[in-house]
Amino acid sequence: MAANIIDGKAFAASVRDKVAGHVARLKDDHGITPGLAVVLVGEDPASQVYVRSKGKQTVEAGMNSFEHKLDADTSEADLLAIVDQLNNDPAVHGILVQLPLPGHLNEDLIINSIAPEKDVDGFHISNVGLLGTGQKSMVPCTPLGCLMMLRDYHGSLSGMDAVVIGRSNIVGKPMAQLLLGDSCTVTIAHSRTKDLPEVVRRADIVVAAVGRPEMVPGDWIKEGATVIDVGINRIERDGKNKLVGDVDFASCAERAGAITPVPGGVGPMTIACLLANTVTACCRANGLEEPEGLTA
Ligand code: GUN
Repeated sequence: MAANIIDGKAFAASVRDKVAGHVARLKDDHGITPGLAVVLVGEDPASQVYVRSKGKQTVEAGMNSFEHKLDADTSEADLLAIVDQLNNDPAVHGILVQLPLPGHLNEDLIINSIAPEKDVDGFHISNVGLLGTGQKSMVPCTPLGCLMMLRDYHGSLSGMDAVVIGRSNIVGKPMAQLLLGDSCTVTIAHSRTKDLPEVVRRADIVVAAVGRPEMVPGDWIKEGATVIDVGINRIERDGKNKLVGDVDFASCAERAGAITPVPGGVGPMTIACLLANTVTACCRANGLEEPEGLTA
C-alpha cells in the first residue's frame, strides 16, 4: 500500500488562516489585538531561528509580537522579574520562554512562574494537571498539532489503538493524554519497553517522538496504520546534511495508510498551534467564545 502523505505545511497554513480570521474579528468587533511575548535568553543559534520565525508568523497573523532578548548571563531574579512584568501586562495574552535555558537557570522554576492562563506552551504544572484530568487547559503546541492532523484525517479517533514512542514532558506524555481524551487505547512506549516492535505492530496510530533518526522501520508498522513522525534529526548522508524523522520514511510509507513527512509534516504545525493557543488565551482572558477547531 502506498501511504497518503499528510501535508503538514498546507495544514499549518490553513490553521494560520483560521487564526488570522479570528484575530481580525477580535480587532473589528472588540478592539482587542492578541499579543504574544517570547523571551530568549542567550544566543543559541537554533533558538534564535525559532524565535525569529515565531515573531514573524505572529505579526503575519495580525497579532502583536513582543520579543525580549536577554544576555546569556541574565540572573534568575532578573528573568523572574521580566516574567512577572509580562504576567501583569494586559496587552500580553501569551508568554513563551524559549527552551533550553542556560544551565544556571532553573527551567521548572521559570516555567512555573508564568501565569498558567498565559502559558501558551502548556508546560506549567497547572496546565499539565488540567490536561491530565480532562479539564480546560493550555495544550502543548506539538502534540496539539499532531491531534489536529489525526482528527482531520480520521474524523473520530474513538477506540483506536495508539502507541506513542517517547515519554517526554513536552511531547510524549501530553500526546498520550490528548489521545486518551479522544478515547484511544493508549500505550506509551520508551527505551525500556519490552519487545517494542510487537507493541508498535498493534497500533492503528503510531506517534514517534524519541529524537533518534529513522529508528522505526517499516516492518514495525501495521498495514494501513497512521504514522505521525515528530522527530527532526539532522544527519549527514552521502556527504550532505539532511533532515530525517524518527521513522524510516521510505519503508514505513510502504505499509502505512497515512504518514507525515519530515520536513513538512509535524514541524510547521508547532508554530501554527502556538498562534492558535495565543488566540485561545486572548479569548479566555476577555470572556469571549473560543475559536472552534483550534483547541483540544
Ligand atoms: N524549544 C524548542 N521547542 C520549544 C517549544 O515548543 N517551546 C519552548 N518554550 N521552547 C522550545
